[in-house]
Amino acid sequence: MRISVIGCGYLGAVHAASMAKLGHEVVAVDVDPVKIERLAAGDAPFFEPGLPEILSEAIASGRIRFTTDMSEVAGARVHFVAVGTPQGPTGAADLTYVDAAVAALTQYVAPDEFVVGKSTVPVGTAARLAASLSEAVPGATLVWNPEFLREGFAVQDTISPDRLVYGVPSGAAGESAVAALDEVYATTLAEGTPRLVVDLATAELVKVSANAFLATKISFINAMAEIAEVVGADVTALADAIGHDARIGRKFLNAGLGFGGGCLPKDIRAFQARATELGVGESLAFLADVDAINLRRRAHVVTLAEELLDGDVTGKRVAVLGLAFKPNSDDVRDSPALDITARLHELGALVSAYDPEANGTAARIHPEVHYVDSADEALRGADLVLVLTEWNAFRQLDPVAVAGLVQNPVVIDGRNCLDRDAWTAAGFTVRGMGR
Ligand code: UDX
Repeated sequence: MRISVIGCGYLGAVHAASMAKLGHEVVAVDVDPVKIERLAAGDAPFFEPGLPEILSEAIASGRIRFTTDMSEVAGARVHFVAVGTPQGPTGAADLTYVDAAVAALTQYVAPDEFVVGKSTVPVGTAARLAASLSEAVPGATLVWNPEFLREGFAVQDTISPDRLVYGVPSGAAGESAVAALDEVYATTLAEGTPRLVVDLATAELVKVSANAFLATKISFINAMAEIAEVVGADVTALADAIGHDARIGRKFLNAGLGFGGGCLPKDIRAFQARATELGVGESLAFLADVDAINLRRRAHVVTLAEELLDGDVTGKRVAVLGLAFKPNSDDVRDSPALDITARLHELGALVSAYDPEANGTAARIHPEVHYVDSADEALRGADLVLVLTEWNAFRQLDPVAVAGLVQNPVVIDGRNCLDRDAWTAAGFTVRGMGR
């Protein structure tokens, strides 16, 4: 099928390359010429395992084309909208890019074609866009097909997702939209992927409520960590024990520094803002607590660092291992790790920070921090070590070797990812999260 993808950020670039991988003929559009040039040369503009491979394969097969010229979408049967919806100044989602993309796209859409929203939007956006599309191009149909991809697993989550959700209008238009999307995802559906057909508002809500639930789960376990710290209990053992209950499940119950990234923090804030606009703010009032618990983790680690450095971090050498919001990513958007690092620097600590992939992205936001090229370099002479992102390379560090590099064998394990017994045996004082 001929497909267009509007927006070549995280979501769009992965979606476009994945659609080509599924055998479709794809034209991918972005307003940023630098991004387009890089993608056209097979150079992924961010770190995502598997993306360079499917991108090169798609380019070599001739099934993908990158352009800044919107008119090239003409002739595609399905047009995916995958632009960003960043957090605006009030916490509500900023829909500037979605509105601009749909307006620009509409000029080239023909009747019987489908505009398929993938961006995360406030509920009600799709109905509004559907009305303007059908006014401009009678016979064209707007549908919503939210994306649930996790960074680090984005390709896998796009090609073989847990489920497909189609938000479609009722009647014949909805039926043809389902048929068109079934054709797009034929390979995925043949693998037995569940497919749910719902109305537009439900599809928009599925995405934000899934993220709200995940954020709540993480903050729940971090709230338990706060209590465990006071009573001397172990939140990891607690998570294992409650996680055996299949109704609860062990996934997303890792206490630590909490959630960051380009989705969960902004999505829970935008969801609250939208609920308030709709007059049902009370229904999501608990998300303010979810957010507050999450942000408290960062303050807690800074306080713990001060405590371990005799009440004052000024002039102390602090080794930071990890800056990305999670491992296998170079993304530092709303990253707890980078936030803590910047705060310690601001308090006067002599920070040496290292991340296997995120030094560059971190330096763009916090150029004042001192970044180094290896864990060893960060660790040399440190008075305190902080492990803030659970990269495998950090989990696998040899604590005996690390003890030989640092000045003081004290470590804060912000992600509960170190082998506590091995580090203790190597002479370290280990402070975990909620343990
Ligand atoms: C998330 C959703 O998982 C995905 O479905 C949605 O489409 C986009 O948002 P992502 O932002 O890639 O994906 O990250 P995710 O793997 O969900 O992790 C989010 C944050 O939560 C990370 O900072 C991670 O470190 C943290 N986290 C996750 C925890 O602190 N504890 C956990 O148990 C799990």
